[in-house]
Amino acid sequence: MLRLTCLAVGLLLGGINGQITQFNRIDCYPQPGANQQTCQSRGCIWDSNFDSSHPTVPLCYLPTGTGYTGANGAPGTYILTKKAGSFVNPYGADSGHVIVSSQLIGKTLNVRFVDQSFTNRYEPPIGIPKNPSTSSSNDVLQFNPVNVGNQNLFSFTVTRASKGPNFWDTSIGGLIFSDKYIQIATLLPSQSIYGFGEAIHPSIKHDFSRYTTWAMFARDEAPDSASALDTKNLYGVHPFYICVESDGKAHGVFILNSNAQEVTTGMAPHLIYRTIGGMLDLYFFPGPTPEEVVNQYLALIGTPMLPAYWSLGFQLCRWGYQSLQDIQAAVGRTQAAGIPLDVVFSDIDYMNHDEDFTTGSAFAGLSQYVDQLHAQGLHVTLIFDPAIEVDYDTFQRGLNTGARFIEWPASYPVPSTNSLYPMTANTKIMLGAVWPDRHTAFPDFLDENITQGESSSATDKWWAGEFTLYHSKIAFDGIWIDMNEPSNFGTNQASTGHEGIAPLACPLTGSNNALDSPPFQTQAVYLFGNGNYLSTKTLCMLGKTGGGKYNFYDTKSLYGWSEARATQKALNTATGKRGVVISRSTFPSAGRYTGHWLGDNTARWEDLRTSVIGAMEFNFFGIPYVGSDICGFIGSPTEELCLRWQQMGAFHPFSRNHNIAGTPPQDPAMWPSVAAAAKKALLFRYHYLPHLYSLHYDATLYGHTVLRPLFFEFPSDSATLTLDKQFLWGSAFLITPVLTQGANSVDGYFPSGVNNDEVWYSIYDFNYAQATPPGPNQLPAPVTSMIPVHVRGGYILPRQAPATTTTAAKTNPFELLVAIKGVRGAGTAQGQLYWDDGEASPSAVDGTYNYYKWNFAYSETPMGAQLTLQRVNTVNGMSVPTLDIIELFGYKFSPSFQSFALDGNPLTLDMSSSFYNASVNQAYIKATNLIDLTKLNSGTPSVLSWRHTLM
Ligand code: NOJ
Repeated sequence: MLRLTCLAVGLLLGGINGQITQFNRIDCYPQPGANQQTCQSRGCIWDSNFDSSHPTVPLCYLPTGTGYTGANGAPGTYILTKKAGSFVNPYGADSGHVIVSSQLIGKTLNVRFVDQSFTNRYEPPIGIPKNPSTSSSNDVLQFNPVNVGNQNLFSFTVTRASKGPNFWDTSIGGLIFSDKYIQIATLLPSQSIYGFGEAIHPSIKHDFSRYTTWAMFARDEAPDSASALDTKNLYGVHPFYICVESDGKAHGVFILNSNAQEVTTGMAPHLIYRTIGGMLDLYFFPGPTPEEVVNQYLALIGTPMLPAYWSLGFQLCRWGYQSLQDIQAAVGRTQAAGIPLDVVFSDIDYMNHDEDFTTGSAFAGLSQYVDQLHAQGLHVTLIFDPAIEVDYDTFQRGLNTGARFIEWPASYPVPSTNSLYPMTANTKIMLGAVWPDRHTAFPDFLDENITQGESSSATDKWWAGEFTLYHSKIAFDGIWIDMNEPSNFGTNQASTGHEGIAPLACPLTGSNNALDSPPFQTQAVYLFGNGNYLSTKTLCMLGKTGGGKYNFYDTKSLYGWSEARATQKALNTATGKRGVVISRSTFPSAGRYTGHWLGDNTARWEDLRTSVIGAMEFNFFGIPYVGSDICGFIGSPTEELCLRWQQMGAFHPFSRNHNIAGTPPQDPAMWPSVAAAAKKALLFRYHYLPHLYSLHYDATLYGHTVLRPLFFEFPSDSATLTLDKQFLWGSAFLITPVLTQGANSVDGYFPSGVNNDEVWYSIYDFNYAQATPPGPNQLPAPVTSMIPVHVRGGYILPRQAPATTTTAAKTNPFELLVAIKGVRGAGTAQGQLYWDDGEASPSAVDGTYNYYKWNFAYSETPMGAQLTLQRVNTVNGMSVPTLDIIELFGYKFSPSFQSFALDGNPLTLDMSSSFYNASVNQAYIKATNLIDLTKLNSGTPSVLSWRHTLM
């Protein structure tokens, strides 16, 4: 273990011994209202030379020497004492003693700063698995603490043992530790930083040409993609980023904290992290590839759930269906247009007066209709909001069974509203107002009170019970959980928007305001201007959660996470199947329970563009089942925008068209051109669903991304580091969507790879089967064609002929697309397939899946090709379609169709369909029941072999 050394370090660029320039400042007045007087009166330095070419540079900044002095503590720990005479924290009494410790969890380095002055410090109660991570590199991460320079201030670096750049170097100073204000700053090794959410990022790579502060506190806030920069926090919180270093190696950092928090990216490059509670619990992931960073992150927080197969189909939704007939009409016209459709949604319209677990009279036939949809192989997802009206049987059953709801603290005088309802009179339940007509209570999904012998809390059991009861009336398959930041209408305002029901008022002043008006409130408040508070649009911060154990102040950002956990269990209990949950609010590890949609976007081209970035970011965050509201939620799309959005959205794992109430229908069949484009794009998607599903399996089993940006695969190609208009499914399937109005073509980039040997074959309308030249390309993309999709040489993708439902498509024979990489004599490709019944409960990880691996190679002496097919894992009795078609790209030989044999046994091909096209090096091999995948060898792979001649 390293011991602390007193280093007389010389000038560290940007460090506390270095000069403070415009570019390495730490803002000393991170709230509105900085001026010379307010700044200097708190002991900060004021710069009166505003530089209009760098308008974001903080004018009020921290003096050097701010922080703590370190000493060795118990082995492996360090005791930090506030440096006498250093800057006095304006946001509360500085902690006298902070203990720093570090540990390795596999390859992941954890550094913790725990404050000893305050007892019982809060930590997010999310029970993450913290599995040890692995890496392809032998390198190990090192935590290097130092008391730096003559100022004798504690700082640390994190490096690889082999050295290279510092992931973090906190010698820039600025460590502050107090009860409700914690700050740490670090220099960064590169400007290629990705992540932090949930926010609208105008580019996937953060912009270090300015200072930018991103708020992180869950909030019901619609994304704004039209302004040049909007740093507001949206529905979820993800304090995680990936950094690509100058040599293309990557690492990642996660800060486990659920309080209101924010991060400033600065020009050094550096970052400043601030939180108003909890502690600093930092995790460093060594990579060295971006994908490995995510694998390591997900080893810590848990890998994502496996969505039901049907949920990879197209989904139709809107808010504002007036009756069941409106749903039937939209579904009818979609099906009549031949557009694949798997999932029919109903928003809150189906409920009786917006009460969960009830059905309104205009939707009286919903149950029979759901049965009809099931008979057609479709599935149904219904919305459920967390807020429960406090005057009906669902709530009564909750109270009867001991379910907990968010409450006022024991000592706090309960508002008179509670006495309006027999069920809440004499309770401490905090009442709010959401969609239902009367007041609502908010289930406390962090309730940890588990009776002996039970696996769930009374709250979770009641929640599952309500779903089970409702499922016995309406046999829904999936659950959509919304408004779970949690959202509340009218908090601290004059009205809730509901006639005659009083809004929730929080103690913003007076003796109980410590949590509702803390000294520093973060950009989650300041960005919204005067009259905003942490409790705006939500509940009061002094509320009690976890059955009284926690303050809502600490756990608010976990509300969606905890509801998702309870709801996944409820779905499994109610349906006996895997199904799928999608949630608006998320937090690290929410992906274990739920997918996510990107919220209330607007029907604008800017929103189409940012949704490409958002979907990739949620893959970094371990929530790969993600998509945007196709064609835009707010407003009405133009026909062209809707068409392009349907085309792009066909490649997001969660592919759903959704629309706000009060606007014209925008389902794809509303316009013939959109219908045609959607049909084409979705049939294409359905063809490759076995590949998409296999990627989700890899995500669940190993913590992979499903969607990823090009830099994930080619981090040392610096041209990829800013690319955010294209995305990959896994390593090999590249989508180049059209994101601009009036375009007939689209620019794409096709990396040539470190060995200059990458090949990208077109699999869309233009130049099918042909390799696209490496580098930047302009590709044809008229509205009548698909958007460009390319497959990367070296990979074998499984697919099945499409159908208009996944239920039908899933029974079609398998096909393999073999995209060969390599020069004459050494062409190879490999791939895999996971296969199961698509919905068995509870999940994939119980091992009940079939798993196959394929490997292709050819040789010139002797002249022949081999496809090895390995049955790694099979489940008896599970039906697996036969493999009937093999298509080869980049295959420069004419195959002898008579010579095909499986393990030496001759096979007869269907010569009316099999062919070789020498002009594009494409072979197509077909026979009905060509290979029975259930009968392949399980140990030694089976070999499909044939002879060929050089063309
Ligand atoms: C807000 C959600 O974000 C939106 O998707 C939904 O349609 C409305 N709530 C109504 O439930």
